Amino acid sequence: MTFQTVESRPIQGQKPGTSGLRKKTRTFMAPHYLENFIQAIFNSIGGAEGKIFVVGGDGRFFNANAIQTILKMAAANKAARIIVGQNGLLSTPAASHLIRLNKTDGGIILSASHNPGGIEEDFGIKFNVANGGPAPESVTAAILNATLAIDSYKIARVPDVDLRPIGETAVCCMPIRIVDPVADYCDLMAKLFDFDAIQSMFAGGFSMCFDAMHAVTGPYAKAILEQTLGAPEGTVVNAVPLEDFGGGHPDPNPIRAKPLMDLMMSDSAPDFGAASDGDGDRHMIVGRGRYVTASDSLAVLVANAHLAPGYAAGLAGVARSMPTSAACDRVAEKLGIAIFETPTGWKFFGNLLDAGKVTICGEESAGIGSSHIREKDGLWAVLLWLNIIAVRKLSVAKILTDHWANYGRNYYSRHDYEGVPPEAANRLMDHVIGQMETLSGKSFGGLTVSGADEFSYRDPIDGSVSDHQGLRIWFEGDGRAVLRLSGTGTEDATIRLYLEQYKPYEKAASLSVCKVLLPLKRAVIEIAGMQRFIGRTEPDVVT
Ligand code: G1P
Ligand code: ZN
Repeated sequence: MTFQTVESRPIQGQKPGTSGLRKKTRTFMAPHYLENFIQAIFNSIGGAEGKIFVVGGDGRFFNANAIQTILKMAAANKAARIIVGQNGLLSTPAASHLIRLNKTDGGIILSASHNPGGIEEDFGIKFNVANGGPAPESVTAAILNATLAIDSYKIARVPDVDLRPIGETAVCCMPIRIVDPVADYCDLMAKLFDFDAIQSMFAGGFSMCFDAMHAVTGPYAKAILEQTLGAPEGTVVNAVPLEDFGGGHPDPNPIRAKPLMDLMMSDSAPDFGAASDGDGDRHMIVGRGRYVTASDSLAVLVANAHLAPGYAAGLAGVARSMPTSAACDRVAEKLGIAIFETPTGWKFFGNLLDAGKVTICGEESAGIGSSHIREKDGLWAVLLWLNIIAVRKLSVAKILTDHWANYGRNYYSRHDYEGVPPEAANRLMDHVIGQMETLSGKSFGGLTVSGADEFSYRDPIDGSVSDHQGLRIWFEGDGRAVLRLSGTGTEDATIRLYLEQYKPYEKAASLSVCKVLLPLKRAVIEIAGMQRFIGRTEPDVVT
């Protein structure tokens, strides 16, 4: 018998988080674990029968095996067809594009984003719906319920499919189309950006270093930057995707992408530096001697997007996640367009994009994207920066300082306290929630609280409400702090503290970010009883 129905008991704890289900790789490799979750996805959408899905991942350890299992399960569940990236590779933005381009019923993306990969590291699965975006909360809740109700899964007992040749193949009677992971995505970028202008800039000697961090964007960046736009070979470094990302965290921030940062701060820095994460949806921009925070990158892109052909008509509106700095709000205000504040996680942008309310969305965690797909898009952000530089003919540093001179500056930083025992993290959060009503008017080290709340979001399109989305504390004099627990960890809790201080820009005073934010940090440490609950006040990672 080719198709087998395997009895299976529900597996607890398969709750999709901020960005799908993320667990230790060994957890996914345990008997029935992956199968249970995939069957739950199919069950929660009324079965896979007759449906078309895109499948692909970031190439991390277990990617290839998991894809084989998914193909065999899709066949046994009578899916009509699967579109899969060659060798099982697809960046998250490319997968989102393929879902939309081929009008499929959704896609299964295998990635734990910027988390490290390997048998002892992390793996993840995300289900994207027909608009190309991450499943909204109603769907992730249905998936969770399905994981708890499951009693069997269906799988075809057949040999593995060879995913190396591009073209048509099949599992049993289910056709599979193996596609070049890069081609359609590259076509889309060529429509949005002035490739001729960027090409001339490279031809004129503009230099760049793109660090693909041994992750999935390597082949995309090579094809677009080097082979299409004419950047010299070697512009893209660490370009070959590796199962363990070379042992690093493929997270484009100054700490994880330190070699690029060191290069950009050195005398031999090229004009422009950029990096992307494990699955290609995040980005980092560094100019010669100047790092750009994601919040500032978002604001600059919103202010200058009209310089790219795909956005020449202007933007419908902008959305940012709540902890992201308000730098882009100031731009939106000046442009006279709407600005939306959503909970953390790309899934909350989907409805606004579908309804045409916003064109560009962004998160402080280095994810920015637009209505061209329904995911954030690392390479897209890099190409938009290149397009802007090609038109304005200014350095990154100059574009940034001009921006601050125009709008003022939102000094901003995120502090992550990792490896916190979950009970301690919850006690700390409860302690702050307990003070919410009484914080206003109180002073902490000279800073006075002007308001505090727990963020709750009502989706303006479908009316759904998402509670408990982080704690906000405002201070007199344009300061804000946000506290929330990470929803993407695989082991202990991570407390994220986001600090923001707005200052009107004075040319002479480009102040130290640490210095500006220190009073806010001290105040929150005191309010949250950090020392008392987690035994420390210094974070592990500051970005
Ligand atoms: C983190 C980021 C968030 C992003 C998510 C997925 O989630 O903070 O902005 O959408 O990764 O890339 P968190 O761990 O904070 O829940
Ligand atoms: Zn990612």
